Amino acid sequence: MLTSAPVRNVPMRFLFCVVGNALTNRRLAPSRCMRYFRRRMGKPKLAILISGRGSNMLALLDAIREGRLNAEAAVVISNIESAAGLMKAKEHGVETLVISHRGRTREEHDAEIAAELKRREVSLVCLAGYMRLLSSQFVRAFENSILNIHPSLLPAFPGVDAQRQALEHGVKITGCTVHIVDEQLDHGPIVLQQAVAVLDDDSIETLSARILEQEHRIYPEAVARVLRKGFRVDDRRTFLAD
Ligand code: GRF
Repeated sequence: MLTSAPVRNVPMRFLFCVVGNALTNRRLAPSRCMRYFRRRMGKPKLAILISGRGSNMLALLDAIREGRLNAEAAVVISNIESAAGLMKAKEHGVETLVISHRGRTREEHDAEIAAELKRREVSLVCLAGYMRLLSSQFVRAFENSILNIHPSLLPAFPGVDAQRQALEHGVKITGCTVHIVDEQLDHGPIVLQQAVAVLDDDSIETLSARILEQEHRIYPEAVARVLRKGFRVDDRRTFLAD
């Protein structure tokens, strides 16, 4: 998990808080400092990266708002200015940024995003329909701290048009996967999956709609799982201790 920035800064702020109280001759109030400390440690900050309509982003924001996901949405970033999800994020009161990839190398673009994430002490990056491959530098800088949702049961049908690939292959069951992002496309350790039956009369649209319904259910659940204390990644497998 990307905990280095918050963990590095919070003890310093805790110290400043204690020293500040003492210097201003206020009664030393450790409980006040502890509350600050717990608050800072207690709510992990998420960044959500989108390129389009942002329905998975919305599922995450709704889960936060409804208290099903104990996190704070620090920022929504899109590489596309016209992404419909940006408006939805604003309606949720979440800060939005457009960082266009145009005219920049992948590394330059990712470095700019990384700087914004670090500035906000983000602990988890959620890709939600973010249609860009990430540079190795970015993935390494946020090792085991980037999640992606994909509309198939990985490792089947990675890449674009996963629902079309499933129909064309003739599978009877497909679904969706939330996984940790590594340096290969749609490849990292799997956090959660949900199967969806393919019906005889399915079109790409009907199948996609049923998968999307499940995506909206499992993405917040997967994020909550990853943020739990007992979550760990061991090679390709992920576990949650009781
Ligand atoms: C979803 O199907 C997701 O699995 C895939 O891209 C689509 C994004 O949809 N990675 P939305 O923008 O979240 O509505």
